[in-house]
Amino acid sequence: MELILNDSKKTSDRIFALEKVINKFRSNNFSNSDLLDLEMLYNKREAFMESLPSFTIKRKIDTLKKNHKKNKFYSAKTSSDKIEFNSVEYVRKISIPLEYGKFLYFFCRRLRFSRILELGTGFGISTMYLLQALKRQPIGFLTSVEKSFDYAPYYKNLFQEFNQKKYALVIGRKETALTELLDCSSFDLVFQDADHSKEKLVPEIEELLRVMRSGSVLILDDINWSRDMQSAWKLLTKSSYLAYHTEFSFDGKQRPRFGILLKR
Ligand SMILES: C[S@@+](CC[C@H](N)C(=O)[O-])C[C@H]1O[C@@H](n2cnc3c(N)ncnc32)[C@H](O)[C@@H]1O
Repeated sequence: MELILNDSKKTSDRIFALEKVINKFRSNNFSNSDLLDLEMLYNKREAFMESLPSFTIKRKIDTLKKNHKKNKFYSAKTSSDKIEFNSVEYVRKISIPLEYGKFLYFFCRRLRFSRILELGTGFGISTMYLLQALKRQPIGFLTSVEKSFDYAPYYKNLFQEFNQKKYALVIGRKETALTELLDCSSFDLVFQDADHSKEKLVPEIEELLRVMRSGSVLILDDINWSRDMQSAWKLLTKSSYLAYHTEFSFDGKQRPRFGILLKR
C-alpha cells in the first residue's frame, strides 16, 4: 500500500507518493483486484451506454453551438431551448474517457482518500470509478454535486450496488453547495469537472485550496479544453497554497487532460 498523503508531515514524501502512483499507473502496475474492478467498471459503463434511451435535454443552445459546432452529434438547427441528442454519443462526449476513469479509480485506491468531493456528476461515470475505489476501503465518503435535474433518472442504476452510507448526491449549483452546504475543509480530494471558465474556476479553486488541509489534492479536468482553461490552469499553478502541481495524460504522451494540485 502507498503512503496516505495526510500521514506524512513531509512535503517531499507527499510529492514522492503522488509521483509514484502516477508512474505505477503508467506502467500498468495493477493488482489482480484492480484488474477485476476495472473490467467490471468497463462492462458496467458499456452496459449503461447501451441501455440509454434517446432523450431530450434542455441546454443553452448558444453555449452548445459555440463549444460543439464541429461535432456531428450536435443536431439542433434552431435556437429553441430543447434539442434531441443521440444519447450515447452525448454521454460519451461529456463523461471522462475510459483511461481517465481508470486513473481516478487507481489514484484513489492507492492514496486512500477518505473525503472526496466531485463537482459535476454528469451521468455519473466518473462518480462510479471513485465509488468503486471507496468500496475497497473501510472508510471514505464521496459527495458529488450536479446542477442538472435531468441526469438523475439515468445514473440511478449505476450506483445501485454501492453502499448508500458512502456517498451523497447533491443536486444543485456547486456555488451554493460550496458556500452554504459543505464544509470544504474536510475534503482530502476534490475532482472538479463542472466549470470550464477561468473567471469562475480560479477564485473557486483558490478558495478550496485556502480551506483544505495540508496534503489534500485537487484534480481539475480538461485543463487544455480551451485557451481560457489553459490560462486558468497556468494561473492556478502559481498559487501560493501549492506544494506541487503536475499535469497528467494517461500515457504521458497525449496533451494532458488532468491538472493535479497538492496543497502545501
Ligand atoms: C463534463 S460534465 C461531468 C462529467 C462527469 N464528471 C463524468 O466524467 O462522468 C460537467 C457537468 O457539470 C455540471 N455543472 C456545470 N456547471 C455546474 C455548476 N455550477 N454546479 C453544478 N454542476 C455544474 C453540468 O451540468 C455537467 O453535468
